[in-house]
Amino acid sequence: MSSYIISPCSSLNGEIEVHTAKNAVLPLLACGLMTKEPLTVRNVPDLTDVHNMLLLLRDCGCEAMNENGTVTICAKNPRMPTSEEKMRALRASVLVMGPLMARTGRASVSFPGGCAIGQRPIDLHRKGLMALGAEEITENGKTYLEGRLVGKSVYLDLPSVGATENIVMAAATEEGITRIENAAKEPEIADLCRCLCEMGARIRGAGTGTIVIEGVKELKGADYTPIPDRIEAATYACAAAGCGGRVMIKGARAEHMRAVIYKLREMGMQTRESPEGLLVSGRARKPIEVRTLSYPGFPTDAQALMMAVSCQAAGTSVFMETVFENRFMHVSELTRMGARIRVENRVAVVEGVKRLRGASVTGSDLRAGAALMIAGLMAEGETLLIDEEEHIPRGYQRLPEALAALGARITKA
Ligand code: EPZ
Repeated sequence: MSSYIISPCSSLNGEIEVHTAKNAVLPLLACGLMTKEPLTVRNVPDLTDVHNMLLLLRDCGCEAMNENGTVTICAKNPRMPTSEEKMRALRASVLVMGPLMARTGRASVSFPGGCAIGQRPIDLHRKGLMALGAEEITENGKTYLEGRLVGKSVYLDLPSVGATENIVMAAATEEGITRIENAAKEPEIADLCRCLCEMGARIRGAGTGTIVIEGVKELKGADYTPIPDRIEAATYACAAAGCGGRVMIKGARAEHMRAVIYKLREMGMQTRESPEGLLVSGRARKPIEVRTLSYPGFPTDAQALMMAVSCQAAGTSVFMETVFENRFMHVSELTRMGARIRVENRVAVVEGVKRLRGASVTGSDLRAGAALMIAGLMAEGETLLIDEEEHIPRGYQRLPEALAALGARITKA
């Protein structure tokens, strides 16, 4: 367990560089299972989720080396993972399903269940792979998918990011043409498809709601650098919005953050985009209405971050969380800091107060922890943030140090 003491911060200034995107890196590492040649992924951030994904890939028979962020995966003889513990260590472990179906014709479907933000079912992953010909079997009390996949049309009831990624990977080396309708459009999916194409896959429509994959015999290795982390960039932008100041977020790609940028501007921030990154300045004062949606809608991963900022807006803000069924766990903790928030099902109404006050709060998930860190910087008096399950290092490479470089005072308790 980690705890942080966060001091009030009157403004954040300077520049900070974002890392490559956690939610691009994790599927790209799983993609290493797709070929017996080496796949190199560069500038991989030092995250607990990355470490756990590499442990899982080794359990799937891969050689997986990480030399200061340059990760090389080699899957000569892939196999199903044996360790339940390694599969449960991170939600993204489900992303080995598609590649294992492609390489071995068999994949376990006992993957992590729910977490703080929701059930996290994998019915769409299973349904998609079964539409391609996989059959569900039970052996010694465990459920597997197995069979030879052939190209088909697949409709996703929900534009699931993970299910889209699994089906794209499974379809890349199967016979025939696969068409995914209602596919997720997140930039991380387009990034995965770009890497697969560099490995020899034939994919059209990545980043749109319809992705067409023409199976090829086998894939070769590649050397790939993932896109920057749009949610890490949103985290720094929201911290600047909450405290006031002027922050240059180097490496941020504004075209991946349109919804967040529009909302920051609605709150009164100035933003300027350049090839170098995104400059945010001013102080957010106005209330907003946010409805989270799959991309290009407002990202659910930035909902808690934006809510923290809205706690000191001059007026009432409304947040509708349409993606996950339980993603308001940060509300009770913000309330302990004096925020005035009412939750009704998936709607939270935030009545801005003049100033939050420091308190002892607990982070229930990755983005809630980051949001409470931002609230602590905005508050009067010190805040003790308890990160019981070490959520923050799962998705941020040294977030306290990054904020400290901009003028924040955050020490480990
Ligand atoms: C990815 O999770 C991200 N994780 C999440 O980021 C992100 O919040 C989410 O996409 C939505 O953008 C990674 O990319 C590693 P989904 P994923 O499948 O793929 C339901 C973070 O903080 N659903 O798009 O698991 C599901 O319950 C994390 O970085 C089904 O019902 O998300 C949810 O309500 C948190 N059945 C909705 O769809 C399924 O089979 C969206 O889930 C799959 C999903």
